[in-house]
Amino acid sequence: MDIQQVLHMNHGMGDNSYANNSIIQKKVMMEAKPILEESIIRLYRIIWPRCLKVADLGCSSGPNALQMVSNVIDIVDSISCNLNLKSPVFQFFLNDLFENDFNDIFKSLPQFLETLEKKKGHKSGSCFINATPGTFYKRLFPDDSLHLIHSSFSLHWLSQAPKKLGNKENVHLTSTSPAAMHRAYAEQFQKDFKLFLKLRSQELVPNGGMVLTLLGRDKTRDMRTAWTLIGITLNDMVLENLIEEIKLESFNFPLYDPTIEEAKEVIEEEGSFTIQRVESVILDWVAANINDEGVDNNNNEFDINMKAEFTTKFVRAALEPLLKAQFGEEVMDEFFFRYKNKIVQLIMEVEILEFPTHIISLIKNV
Ligand SMILES: C[S@@+](CC[C@H](N)C(=O)[O-])C[C@H]1O[C@@H](n2cnc3c(N)ncnc32)[C@H](O)[C@@H]1O
Repeated sequence: MDIQQVLHMNHGMGDNSYANNSIIQKKVMMEAKPILEESIIRLYRIIWPRCLKVADLGCSSGPNALQMVSNVIDIVDSISCNLNLKSPVFQFFLNDLFENDFNDIFKSLPQFLETLEKKKGHKSGSCFINATPGTFYKRLFPDDSLHLIHSSFSLHWLSQAPKKLGNKENVHLTSTSPAAMHRAYAEQFQKDFKLFLKLRSQELVPNGGMVLTLLGRDKTRDMRTAWTLIGITLNDMVLENLIEEIKLESFNFPLYDPTIEEAKEVIEEEGSFTIQRVESVILDWVAANINDEGVDNNNNEFDINMKAEFTTKFVRAALEPLLKAQFGEEVMDEFFFRYKNKIVQLIMEVEILEFPTHIISLIKNV
């Protein structure tokens, strides 16, 4: 399976769509906003471009796709106002893979631009929004053409899962995976992240900034339990002949959640960037989704069901297209029904399920 032809978040506005199940990712972006602001303030001390060129890599679709655009405009407007300067013209490039629902973004643009004009006074001609489809593991922009690159909750996606893992029963790293498999995933991440940094350093102007957020792990927290439960659910379905064994044996998620140290090591080794800031924020992967909906955190039966439902939808919105391509659309409802029941059991057993997200702010070396 060529991951880049298959990978995308669930399209549209339906119950299982990414648009309706990406609150965690929105929270991550809001957590990173002060760091984005710090990066833009530094940039503006050195360069005051008449047209600020910004790319968002892995923008997906739904409300989050234009969140970065709003955040950057808010920040730049406030800096311009404080310094008594005219705001620049903005040019944004929204990137994702070819299968992304770019049409959904295009359809939301008239309303977005109207709000921008009404609320923020940016008239037509002051903000250009372009789409740049393609993988961020290849060149996307000409040399020295961008001032700022932003990528939120996307870089944990690898260019491919490591090959020949011999990982027959699981779909990702678990606590019992052999050391060789951990090494293979870590090496794939190092290779991909290093390439990403090299390509972006070619596209950024000298002193340009880059703010990245990605799923991470630390000594005690990760999302791997969620992947383990996917493997267990698929195995159950193989045993009941609902899924072909050979399909499970040949499938691994192309995802890696590095530690802060692993990410820093690659940045230092690659050498094109100086680290301005690195932070980890800890999110509860059940409650982060639920609190926005006004549900309390008591673990009574009703709440556990709601929490499991939210968590399943969060996972489904992101992973269903990959699972569907491998195992077939006809088993998806059954798979996620069973997965939700496993999450219910997990919530009853474990009090808090947290995972770290790393926020990394970089400056391109001159
Ligand atoms: C979880 S979504 C995050 C979307 C959005 N930035 C947000 O914060 O809500 C991850 C996105 O990264 C995209 N992605 C993964 N690998 C990619 C690659 N190699 N090149 C471009 N986009 C990629 C996926 O298609 C997906 O839309």
